[in-house]
Amino acid sequence: MNVGTTVTQFIIEEQRRHRSASGDFTALINDIVIAVKSIAHSVRRGGLAGVLGGAGSENVQGEIQKKLDVLSNDVFLRCNEWGGHVAAMASEEMDDVYNIPAEYPRGKYLLLFDPLDGSTNTDVNGIIGTIFSVLRAPESGGRPVATDFLQAGAEQVAAGMAIYGPQTILVLTTGHGVNAFTLDDSIGEFLLTHPDMRVPEESVEYAINASNERFWAPPVQRYIGECRAGREGPRGKDFNMRWMGAMVGDVYRVLCRGGVFLYPWDTKTAAKGGKLRLMYEANPVAMLIEQAGGLASTGTQRILDLQPDGLHQRVPVIMGSRHEVERIVAYHLEG
Ligand code: AHG
Ligand code: MN
Ligand code: MN
Ligand code: MN
Repeated sequence: MNVGTTVTQFIIEEQRRHRSASGDFTALINDIVIAVKSIAHSVRRGGLAGVLGGAGSENVQGEIQKKLDVLSNDVFLRCNEWGGHVAAMASEEMDDVYNIPAEYPRGKYLLLFDPLDGSTNTDVNGIIGTIFSVLRAPESGGRPVATDFLQAGAEQVAAGMAIYGPQTILVLTTGHGVNAFTLDDSIGEFLLTHPDMRVPEESVEYAINASNERFWAPPVQRYIGECRAGREGPRGKDFNMRWMGAMVGDVYRVLCRGGVFLYPWDTKTAAKGGKLRLMYEANPVAMLIEQAGGLASTGTQRILDLQPDGLHQRVPVIMGSRHEVERIVAYHLEG
């Protein structure tokens, strides 16, 4: 009987085809997969397992932590610290770099993650997820420090996100396109269900938190205004809007049927640099979008080219269907 292609089989075959990374890399992805399965299980049990609600703490971002933020962060650390594939980790929920405990060997990769994306959705049974990014550790083999993580997104070895929705889905890129896998509960494996995902170049759907409209810059006001004007406006066609409150959900929709996702520059978040985190959110998701043929920009710069200046740096994000992102960037350049 053919069980389908598991994510492990897929990675091994992809590595063979491209003669790239070693078994080490496959083992790292396997550990990430175990973490994702464990988080998915807790998410599914929700109130039955007592994992909903606040943790009574605040993270370095100044956000109130949910129990699931803390639990997911711990699961990611425990699953990835022992295997000898990771040299150090960094996360939205931790102030500083997490060093591998002395009893375990240090590996050749750096792992960065947003353990739980869409925290405000946890208690309302909305879509949530996990985002991760893999970078190379310094060759010296020494104990990594924060500056070792500050590599441009273009340097990512792999990136992905898990989506805990009606299905649990893992979206992955190692720089050779984007593939998505669905968790088959009956065998406990992620099976390839969405090979070679491509973002359509054109679209008539946008995702933005419209309650921030008065804070946006003129180019974004213009773009969204034209979408809302519909067929009577300069675009000559009607647009549709969606906002899930979790980047993973909105970006997955963009991967499936196109559109743009924006958390753009606005006067509300400008002092912090933006809303979304470069290292844990913007970079990995930008890699997925670009690998699927889309574009990802701050409005004026390609996200993957940004030289990070801090682990928790935030940036404006505009990503999705190529022609729409090109149009928004052009509006920014026109001033
Ligand atoms: P996180 O839950 O990891 O802090 O990230 C939430 C982010 C992102 O996923 C989402 O698109 C956005 O914040 C939602 O922002 P609003 O609360 O403005 O809708
Ligand atoms: Mn958060
Ligand atoms: Mn997030
Ligand atoms: Mn988060």
